[in-house]
Amino acid sequence: MSSLPSRVTLVDVGPRDGLQNEKQPVAAAHKIELVHRLQAAGLREIEVTSFVSPKWVPQMADNTEVMAGIQRKPGVRYGVLVPNTKGLDAALPTRPDEVVVFAAATEAFSQRNLNCSIEESIERFAPVVAGAKAAGIKVRGAISCALGCPYQGDVSADEVDRVAGLLQQIGVDHCYVGDTIGVGTPRKTQAAFERVLRHFPLKEVSGHFHDTYGQALANIYASLEIGVATFDGSVGGLGGCPYAKGATGNVATEDVVFMLNGLGIETGIDIDLLVDAAAGISAALGRPVTSRTGRALLSKRERV
Ligand code: HMG
Ligand code: MG
Repeated sequence: MSSLPSRVTLVDVGPRDGLQNEKQPVAAAHKIELVHRLQAAGLREIEVTSFVSPKWVPQMADNTEVMAGIQRKPGVRYGVLVPNTKGLDAALPTRPDEVVVFAAATEAFSQRNLNCSIEESIERFAPVVAGAKAAGIKVRGAISCALGCPYQGDVSADEVDRVAGLLQQIGVDHCYVGDTIGVGTPRKTQAAFERVLRHFPLKEVSGHFHDTYGQALANIYASLEIGVATFDGSVGGLGGCPYAKGATGNVATEDVVFMLNGLGIETGIDIDLLVDAAAGISAALGRPVTSRTGRALLSKRERV
């Protein structure tokens, strides 16, 4: 049996990826409360918001207000998604610890999500990366649609390799395999990582799996087998991408924590407090918790 990492870092992207697609406005106060609950649960990395065009993603228009409202906890890193220098100029005064640029593995998704080609997106990211790093901020680079694209269909490892190389060339510190529409399966996931690992060291790669087809935990396990030890999740399994119709949220962070606890892998996260965070944001959205672990632990509480 292969040995798995003994410790995993989980990044909760719920406040950004989880809420960006909500049709009804979500008050900044609820977003801030969510960040507070996540940090109370032990999350050390939280993707708080994005500095994208409010015409494209209206739900994130309160980015500055949300960043300003957070009571920062020492040791926690607060990240923001940024598509261009306009976004970086708006983000920098809010003091993010991490900036995320997001390329796509396919031309079709790049056009739909960023309104430009892959090459053009890289040209726009280059000054973002340089500006962030000059300000001492770490940059993560996403490869969206690394395991499948809603417009192109199948995505090859060569396509992933090419974008990983381009992100590395512009100085991105960390690269993640994004399964935007949740169609990836374990061997496909490992093949994508093998190519990303040609450009980035193991400790600077991570997995960002949406759970549309219920494959995210299997893909995380497959990633652990090859030593990947950082994953994104979204509390309560919230979310979806506005430019990937039908795609559901990221894997629920509490589902990942439950699996990692069972494997004896440390995360530093208190699963009960994490479920409280899921319950809190679900109540604010007027819905029940839908994640498997969230529902199971909440119903267990009712029974005792
Ligand atoms: P564009 O329309 O081509 O941009 O959009 P433009 O440069 O021509 O500017 C048009 C207008 O937008 C101008 O305003 C700009 O000032 C404004 P106007 O003169 O018309 O009033 N603008 C901005 N405003 C605020 N912040 C900015 C900004 N940039 C321009 N940063 C653009 C290009 C990239 C801006 C647009 O396509 C965009 O915002 N796209 C983001 C889409 C998005 O956020 N998608 C969801 C996140 S990605 C995701 O969820 C996948 C991920 O999770 C990974 C995975 O799941 O695999 C990351
Ligand atoms: Mg995503």
